[in-house]
Amino acid sequence: MSLAKAFAPGKVILLGEHAVVYGYPALAGPLEQGITVTIEPSKTGGITFQGQEGLSLLEHVLRKCAQSFRVSNVDASITGDLPASVGLGSSAAISVALVRAFAQVARINMRPQGLLDRALELEQEFHGSASGVDHHVAFERKLIRYVKGKRGQPLCLSRQIEMVVWVVEPRGSTRERVNEVKRRYELDSERSKKIFQSIGELVNEGVDALEKGKLKEFGATMNDNHSLLQELGLSTPRLDDACERLRQMGAFGAKLTGAGGGGAVIALFDDADPMVSNLGALGEKAFVARWEASE
Ligand code: PMV
Repeated sequence: MSLAKAFAPGKVILLGEHAVVYGYPALAGPLEQGITVTIEPSKTGGITFQGQEGLSLLEHVLRKCAQSFRVSNVDASITGDLPASVGLGSSAAISVALVRAFAQVARINMRPQGLLDRALELEQEFHGSASGVDHHVAFERKLIRYVKGKRGQPLCLSRQIEMVVWVVEPRGSTRERVNEVKRRYELDSERSKKIFQSIGELVNEGVDALEKGKLKEFGATMNDNHSLLQELGLSTPRLDDACERLRQMGAFGAKLTGAGGGGAVIALFDDADPMVSNLGALGEKAFVARWEASE
């Protein structure tokens, strides 16, 4: 019998990655796919761990979480259907699911802000200076406009939104990409600021378009955001090519999602299922992300 079980979803950033680190808004939403943490009484004593990738870092984060809740003598397993290390928020999902599971084991009835703060502390172990967008989405499980240091504002959608998420290629760490952007910022802060500001404006335009169900307008903000990420040196030939193919398939817009330098792209369609089937038939790894109209 398990002592606790908690799930947290992965995420996609629809608009605004990287600029969000510098205080500009971003738009991000949860995926169906996510991470489940299961905690059982220990068979061997101490804290043991079963999981897949990045074992030592995961073990370190797990121990840190257990310590902060003063829990010992447990076995924890981390499972999930979320592709790791491609910009879909697996580390934030692990952080949020761990905190929720350990709060259950410790029988602590924490306020949401307290849980969020602990999840962000764990997320810093993975990412360094993360903006917090990933773990806010994993926590709120809603499509949100997010500004660093603030609670996410849920969008009020007038219709269902569907996107193709296409996992194109492996990539390096978020920390490396964030540091690369910082180096560019330090070399030419005026240029970087202008790009971040333009990204922030696109996010505000995009939020407005999406709430009104104007898919064509929203798609245009995605395309423009991709171009600005290219200017920041964050795209790759394969990501560019994937975006172009999705546009040719009829997408309203397409862009890379997450830290870049590889990873996944997203594209907005009226009906995303047939596109995912087409990509699947070509041997590509793709799935649908869907957000329902608000009540
Ligand atoms: O870890 P990723 O690929 O989902 O990227 C996170 C988004 C960034 O804006 C690049 C970093 C951050 O902390 O917001």
